[in-house]
Amino acid sequence: MGSSIRLFLLCCLVQIYITAATTESGDATALRSLADEWKNLPPGWLRGDPCRDGWVGIECTGSRITSITLPNMNLVGELSGDISILSELQQLDLSYNHDLTGPLPMSIGNLKKLTNLILVSCGFTGPIPYTIGSLPLLKFLSLNSNGFTGNIPPSIGNLPSLYWLDLADNLLEGPIPVSNGSTPGLDMLTHTKHFHFGKNKLSGQIPSKLFSSNMSLIHVLFESNRFSGTLPPTLGLVQTLEVIRLDNNSLSGELPSNLNNLTSVHELFLSNNRLTGPLPNLTGMSTLNTLYLSNNTFDSSDFPSWLQSLSSLTVLMMENTKLQGPVPATFFNLQNLQTVVLKRNQLNGTLVIGPSISNQLQIIDLQTNAISDFNGPETYNYEVVLVGNPVCEETGKTDTYCKPPPLTSLYSTPLKNCPPNPCRSGQILSPTCRCAHPYTGTLQFRSTTFLDTGNSNPYETLEQSLNKFFQSHQLPVETVSLSDPRMDASQYLLLNLGVFPYGQDSFNRSAISMLGYVFSNQTFKPPPKYFGPYVFKGDKYEYFSDDHGNSKNPSLAIKIGLAVGASVLFLLLMLAGFFVYLQKKKADRATKRSNPFAHWDSKKSSGSIPQLKGARCFSFEELKKYTNNFSEAYDIGSGGYGKVYRGTLPTGELIAIKRAQQGSMQGGLEFKTEIELLSRVHHKNVVSLLGFCFDRDEQILIYEYVANGSLADSLSGKSGIKLDWPRRLKVVLGSARGLAYLHELANPPIIHRDVKSSNILLDERLNAKVADFGLSKLMGDSEKGHVTTQVKGTMGYLDPEYYMTQQLTEKSDVYSFGVVMLEMITAKKPIEHGKYVVREVMRLMDKTKSLYNLQEILDPTIGWDSNAFNGLEKYVDLALSCVEESRAERPTMGEVVKEIENIMQTAGLNPNAESASSSSTYEDSSKGSAHPYRDKA
Ligand SMILES: *[C@@H]1O[C@H](CO)[C@@H](O)[C@H](O)[C@H]1NC(C)=O
Ligand SMILES: *[C@@H]1O[C@H](CO)[C@@H](O)[C@H](O)[C@H]1NC(C)=O
Ligand SMILES: *[C@@H]1O[C@H](CO)[C@@H](O)[C@H](O)[C@H]1NC(C)=O
Ligand SMILES: *[C@@H]1O[C@H](CO)[C@@H](O)[C@H](O)[C@H]1NC(C)=O
Ligand SMILES: *[C@@H]1O[C@H](CO)[C@@H](O)[C@H](O)[C@H]1NC(C)=O
Ligand SMILES: *[C@@H]1O[C@H](CO)[C@@H](O)[C@H](O)[C@H]1NC(C)=O
Repeated sequence: MGSSIRLFLLCCLVQIYITAATTESGDATALRSLADEWKNLPPGWLRGDPCRDGWVGIECTGSRITSITLPNMNLVGELSGDISILSELQQLDLSYNHDLTGPLPMSIGNLKKLTNLILVSCGFTGPIPYTIGSLPLLKFLSLNSNGFTGNIPPSIGNLPSLYWLDLADNLLEGPIPVSNGSTPGLDMLTHTKHFHFGKNKLSGQIPSKLFSSNMSLIHVLFESNRFSGTLPPTLGLVQTLEVIRLDNNSLSGELPSNLNNLTSVHELFLSNNRLTGPLPNLTGMSTLNTLYLSNNTFDSSDFPSWLQSLSSLTVLMMENTKLQGPVPATFFNLQNLQTVVLKRNQLNGTLVIGPSISNQLQIIDLQTNAISDFNGPETYNYEVVLVGNPVCEETGKTDTYCKPPPLTSLYSTPLKNCPPNPCRSGQILSPTCRCAHPYTGTLQFRSTTFLDTGNSNPYETLEQSLNKFFQSHQLPVETVSLSDPRMDASQYLLLNLGVFPYGQDSFNRSAISMLGYVFSNQTFKPPPKYFGPYVFKGDKYEYFSDDHGNSKNPSLAIKIGLAVGASVLFLLLMLAGFFVYLQKKKADRATKRSNPFAHWDSKKSSGSIPQLKGARCFSFEELKKYTNNFSEAYDIGSGGYGKVYRGTLPTGELIAIKRAQQGSMQGGLEFKTEIELLSRVHHKNVVSLLGFCFDRDEQILIYEYVANGSLADSLSGKSGIKLDWPRRLKVVLGSARGLAYLHELANPPIIHRDVKSSNILLDERLNAKVADFGLSKLMGDSEKGHVTTQVKGTMGYLDPEYYMTQQLTEKSDVYSFGVVMLEMITAKKPIEHGKYVVREVMRLMDKTKSLYNLQEILDPTIGWDSNAFNGLEKYVDLALSCVEESRAERPTMGEVVKEIENIMQTAGLNPNAESASSSSTYEDSSKGSAHPYRDKA
């Protein structure tokens, strides 16, 4: 037996070298040297080979490392200069590793292919190396929230493709460099859209040369620095600007009059400077939402009439700006107005609030002025604050407007009628009432179009937008929570974010790095109606689900997975209340054998004894015999819940035996459901249940043996079966027929709930067989055509409407099937390298071009260039109709079957043909290794 295992492992190795490239040796050495400097490496690192064995956070193209994405991994250490050996590196993201310290190595300038350098919120110190200016392809540079010191290197001006430049929240000092005859400068960055330099110690005049009409800047964020002198009029030439923050500096002098020319600006912050001269006339900024002018030393002036022409104005902050005279009543008629703060001025006369005021209004704060009377409606639902005005100085004044301003109310995502907190310590209750370890951090908005005065709309909108984002990117997130909105000294709106894991109580390493990247790369964009530019600061995550308790060597597991081609199914679980049976077991053994379900306690396992047709009861002794005492050599696949063995009946018939792992405390319901369903279901394209065993504390299901493993394994090349276009169509048709049978002919109808390529098996004639009903749901006699359930399924295949509404219909299977159809032509997992196959196809698709312009994404092993196939366009149309967002627009499985038959006939294929050949002819001889089952037979 020892030698057979060795042979078996040898096959694995041979196959691995064929299926995944080994890392080029220079890259491998460099990566190991980086890792040598780091503590808290993700599990699996340093074992095997980075590219071949898929180290967390590493992506390769061929044998070269092209991306290192490790946000929030708790890495401790420094960044070694050996990084420069990775000459094909395009992306480096180490954000939110607060204990990555020390300087950025000079040699970083050798990474000529680098496009994204993202180091948000780490502990880097020292100067930003000038070599950073020799990265010709750099697009995205985020060095914010570190401890960088020194000047901004002028060489950054040499980055012609730079789109995003974030240096905020460091200790940078000195002036902003601009070019002169001999040195480069930031004025050369004509493609850059973002200058985020806030919260540094930058000083000097803002150079006139910095801005020109050639620039494409949309955000100029220079707040909380030490800039002085006058603002250059060239700023008014940058017509693309949307957000300008110059507040909390020492700018002086008059504002340039042409600021008025910046017609796209939504948010303008000039408060807390030493600006003088007349108030600027900003009539031209017709889309202005937010205007901060507080604490400057402008000339005394009446309430500016041009303010009344800013029809989008939402927030006006003009504290201490020497305003005098009355506030015109018509000002409050601006229909978007929410917050008006005019504290500490000399406004006088009567405050009049007429009948046609903004219905958005939340607060008018006029404390410490000279208002002598208030003439407003009897009742109103906004705050008026007039403390410190003569109108409130009479003794005994108790009007509500004479009270101090209210404390801002604190928003927190509401919990949905959860029971009193049932969570273990360290866990947090999600808004959907589950205890889990969320990924947490702080969202910092550098500008908003509202102020927190108790209005929860912006937060609810943000929550929905985050949930929708995670769901549409198929990230393993159940829901998010927001809490404790607050303003910091820089007028940033801070919000606590919690992201709750889907289906488990904590995230694994790769999920956390994907989530961190969503924010560090700014892939998530908050709803612009309320929120401007932001940064996210991820907290340290201490609950990685893959860091503890996994005694298996992961790279060995991968190898076994590769070779065996985890063909059949796993899953299969234990009953709750299992120990009760343990006690009674001995006494009851005799009865148990004649009726294995005599001990199926209906009270504990929610339901009655299954109704079985055609499935027989096996004893544990029998199964032991068929599998040579469940020996490893008969193990053909394993998963989280147990193992699958191959067995041989005395008749010679092969069977697949799915045996639950001891101690798995969930899944009693799934076990029973599967027996019930499978024993009722008989169709060529659905895996048959031959029997079950419920004996000696075991739960075992016995299936027909499906020889060629799963579709997923064939597509990935693991099983060595070559699927050309006609064969793919045949597999799609077979699985569609299987599902159509479940939906339309089974009685009652069955929704599969976990349609995916690893649940579609191929027999020796490549007939598709739909498998794994562990999550299936009976439609029963539900009249509404849907059942409401807790969302289950596999990320990447999940119907978004089911995910959002929890209402399950057959159309949820249709969605998943559409994803499988796309997987069939691309041979990509639904989510690969953070890309979702549905979006990728839609992104590339151009119906005017041949093959819809999808060549780039099509599986090259099909041989698309030859004319050997046909009907791809119709096939893509069909797949995309299955993944329509709205389920009403998706076809039924019956319609899918008809359309595939159609496509096959048009392509000259007979949809009802039985393949005459046996499995050996399907094997791809070029792979050098035969199908794993055959090796062991
Ligand atoms: C250009 O600017 C640099 C500093 O940014 C300065 O050292 C150099 O003398 C200047 N050259 C000219 C020609 O003005
Ligand atoms: C304002 O912009 C227009 C073009 O959009 C330009 O013609 C005009 O000269 C600008 N005015 C100022 C004062 O810069
Ligand atoms: C403000 O500027 C606009 C034109 O840009 C002009 O029509 C208006 O009269 C000015 N208002 C004041 C109060 O100066
Ligand atoms: C204006 O200055 C005062 C006193 O320095 C400060 O308390 C207040 O927060 C400032 N207002 C704004 C809007 O920054
Ligand atoms: C309001 O103040 C202005 C200037 O400070 C003054 O001319 C005017 O008479 C005052 N109006 C009232 C009603 O006090
Ligand atoms: C990173 O962000 C850019 C710009 O927002 C976006 O185009 C790109 O798709 C993002 N990358 C990923 C892998 O999400």
